Amino acid sequence: MIYLDNGATSFPKPKGMIEAMDLCMSSYCGNPGRSGHDLSRRTGEEVYQARKTLARFFKIEKPDRIIFTSNTTEALNIGIKGVLKSGDHVITTVMEHNSVLRPLRALADRGVEYTLIPCASDGSLDVSKVEDAIRENTRLIVCTQASNVTGTIMPVDELGLLCRNRGILFMVDGAQGAGHVPMDVRNMDLLAVPGHKGLLGPLGTGMLYVREGIELQSLMEGGTGTVSREIIQPTELPEGFETGTINAPGIIGLGYSAGFVNKIGVEVIRQHQKELTKILDQSLRNMKNVTVYGPSDCRKKVGIVTFNINGYNCEEVASLLNDEYGIAVRGGYHCAGLAHKTIGTWDCGAVRMSMGIYNNAREMKAAADAIYAISKS
Ligand code: ALA
Repeated sequence: MIYLDNGATSFPKPKGMIEAMDLCMSSYCGNPGRSGHDLSRRTGEEVYQARKTLARFFKIEKPDRIIFTSNTTEALNIGIKGVLKSGDHVITTVMEHNSVLRPLRALADRGVEYTLIPCASDGSLDVSKVEDAIRENTRLIVCTQASNVTGTIMPVDELGLLCRNRGILFMVDGAQGAGHVPMDVRNMDLLAVPGHKGLLGPLGTGMLYVREGIELQSLMEGGTGTVSREIIQPTELPEGFETGTINAPGIIGLGYSAGFVNKIGVEVIRQHQKELTKILDQSLRNMKNVTVYGPSDCRKKVGIVTFNINGYNCEEVASLLNDEYGIAVRGGYHCAGLAHKTIGTWDCGAVRMSMGIYNNAREMKAAADAIYAISKS
């Protein structure tokens, strides 16, 4: 199988991560932060080590500013709903995933106004349009670091600076960026990240970084293992927002894999992905019956190539690639309908191939050959 669905989740996973999780589950997994016995304490220490590794990865000064979540969607919900209240205005883009758009739509019923900034047909964003949309009550700007549909890299550093200058909170959806492109959290107030994509961790893991000084309203109340005699939810990070028993084996696995990715180096991964993307992207753009979406300059996107073959339904192409050629891709709307509207595929969806660190040039050529063969059939 040639796995080109790393945008959905990365595969395979580092062997060392599987071993770290196995060791945890088979030899010491107690409930961290709940009991005083050796197993609980050891698990708590390993979770803390994972928090430290992720803080190092993202250059976050204090590990306690990281809240572990079960995915990016949960992290986005905690951040977005934690800072916005009735009367606030929020700005985002049409290239966002539903994990940003749906929480904002839901908040609209509770008095939060939102503005969607249109993007160009390659998914790119003009920062001046965002600036023009700022109002007196604009509390937050949320933007993806890279589109999950086209891979388009968004100008998050510029947006961060704009927010800093205008006293607005800035949140980044790092779902397709973390582990793929270098990140600078200095201009971010909130960063939501998956554990299981570019960081190569297990499914069911993610995190939210919250800059010091930002107060969040909690979405969920329950056991935190702290101040147990109080029935008011504590607001301290991270416990106040990691309510209930956490996914300790997953977090410990994520700690291992983030360390593994850090050792390879995000710059090295970025270079590798640029080279692979260029091979695939250019091959497809040279095919007569194939339409490729997103930027043609691979420096402007992460390792994603999205396309359609004339006369074929995208799901049909995805099935053919799987069944006839052993190539795993994702066809459809990628939980981002407005992004598809922007690139002109509202009526048909598209096929997405998303690369990871384990892919190679030979696989890119095989994928291009398979698409060529389908387009000719
Ligand atoms: N959000 C993930 C994707 O883009 C699942 O496929």
